[in-house]
Order: sequence, then C-alpha cells, then structure tokens
Amino acid sequence: MKVICSVKKMQEMSLSLNRKGKTIGFVPTMGALHKGHISLIRRASLDSDVTVVSIFVNPAQFSPSEDFKKYPRDFSRDKNICKKEKVDVLFYPSAGQMYPPGYNTVVKVSQMDNTMCGKSRPGHFTGVATVVLKLLNITQPTTAYFGQKDAQQAAVIQRMSKDLNLPVRIKVLPIVRDNDGLALSSRNSYLDKGQRQDALILYRALMLAKNMIKGGEKDVKKIIRAMNTMISGNKNIRLDYIVIVDPLNLKPKNILSGNCLIALAAWLGKTRLIDNIIVRNQGL
Ligand code: PAJ
Repeated sequence: MKVICSVKKMQEMSLSLNRKGKTIGFVPTMGALHKGHISLIRRASLDSDVTVVSIFVNPAQFSPSEDFKKYPRDFSRDKNICKKEKVDVLFYPSAGQMYPPGYNTVVKVSQMDNTMCGKSRPGHFTGVATVVLKLLNITQPTTAYFGQKDAQQAAVIQRMSKDLNLPVRIKVLPIVRDNDGLALSSRNSYLDKGQRQDALILYRALMLAKNMIKGGEKDVKKIIRAMNTMISGNKNIRLDYIVIVDPLNLKPKNILSGNCLIALAAWLGKTRLIDNIIVRNQGL
C-alpha cells in the first residue's frame, strides 16, 4: 500500500491511472476507521482496479465550538486496517496541503444545507461539499463511496455531483450497525457505558416508526410524535430533531408516499449522534 501525503503526487498518480484505463474506487474518510468505513472500502475494492482511501479530518466542516481538536485520530491503527483491507493507496494530506495560504473557494449546496443537521451546524455542509469536491478532483475516481449513515451528507454530495456535472459515480451504501442496533460512528468512542446504553433508544425509535408504518400508519405527524415521546422518556437524551423527508431533496413529507427518509439527531451529554432509516414504497 502506498501512503501519499502530497496533493500533487496523488493527483498525478490518479490521472496516470485514468490514462491507463484503470478504474479507481475512492472512499473519503476522517479516519478512526470502523466496520462502517470498512464496508465502503470492501465494496470499492470489489468494484475497482485501484482502491484509494483518504484520511483527512477536515477543519472546514467543524465549527469553532465542535470537536475538531478531540476528534479521534490514530493514523497507525487506520493504516494497518487499510493494509489489511488491501487498499492500494492511502491519501493522507495535511491541512496545509488541502488549504494552502490564499485558499479562498467554497461550494455551497443551497437549501439542503440549512435543514436537519444544517440547522445546528451552520456551515458544516459547505465544509463537507468543498472538501469532497477537492478530494474528487485530486483522486479522480470512477466511483466514490459514501454511507447512508450520513444521509444529509449523501444527499448534498449527490446534488453537488449532479449540479456540477462531476464525472464520477456516487454510490451510497447501507448503515453498518452494532449487534444491538447502534449505528457505528467514530463518535461512539466518546460515549461512556451508560450513554452507550441510552443511545440504543435512537434506533428503537426508528424501529417504532417502521412498525407503525408497517401497521398502516400514514400520518407523518403522528409517527414523529410517537418517536418524540419515546426518546423524551429518557432524560439523559436531548433531542435535536426528528424529520421525515424525501431522501434526495430533503423536503419534508406530509404524507408517507414514495421513498421516505426518517432521520434524527440527539445529544448524549456532549456527544451528538445521528441515525436514520429509509422506508421504501413497497413496504419496508
Ligand atoms: P467519516 O465520518 O469518517 O465517514 C466516512 C464515510 O463513512 C462517510 O461516507 C460515512 O457516511 C460513512 N460511514 C460512517 N459510519 C458508517 C456506518 N455506520 N455505516 C456505513 N457507512 C458509514 O463523513 C465523513 O467522514 C466526512 O464528512 C467526509 C465525507 C470524509 C468529508 O470530510
């Protein structure tokens, strides 16, 4: 496995692979790799001649009050995981490489960036869209892989890719969960034992919604109210939002028709967790 820290070297290598007709599968990450990331890496390896993974904790997507400094970083552990997964190239740039002096450009995906997580994380999705576009330009992939875990991020990136005619296929893969249902996240490492247990209620609330819909419930407000009541029962959790929206444009659904994204965010102490499910047309 090659580890490349230089933007120029990475781009040169990708352009040369493209010229040779090799397909590149790209998985952007912020490290602290877990089975969710690994599912993306395995899929990229299966689909592509060359698998590229990036590890970059992107300062532009954290607000000053957020956890940029304490975000879990363990490069040698991540490097070993990538090696074991037979990643071909690990791209590991510094912030100085990605945002050199004079850097002055952002990508804003309007309207989809100020709902859901965007409300409590202003500027976050501009930071994400900007770094993802940069990473795509640097790694020149045939296909880039994202997780449904970050449903709003996936929607924003798909929109950006369409709007800016990016010559890349965006694939969004299912959420990987622990056996008890908790969605894997690098931020789960912040949770203490009690919080880890409390967090299970988030998935349970999503399952409650799923079962209500299975049972014929079509009233969006009723479903959200029931989820809210369930989560509010636990005083250790502070709910940020619950929404039922279109998974592509993130517009609220008034009635349950077509594909519906049921998404939520909640605080457990200082840790903010997100989770979601997609309810499809023909049942679940
Ligand atoms: P990060 O949180 O490291 O996640 C990298 C990718 O892994 C994202 O596409 C995310 O949705 C996916 N992922 C995380 N947990 C998952 C899970 N439990 N199951 C499936 N996929 C999961 O998301 C980011 O980094 C950054 O915003 C990034 C896109 C790299 C831009 O900085």
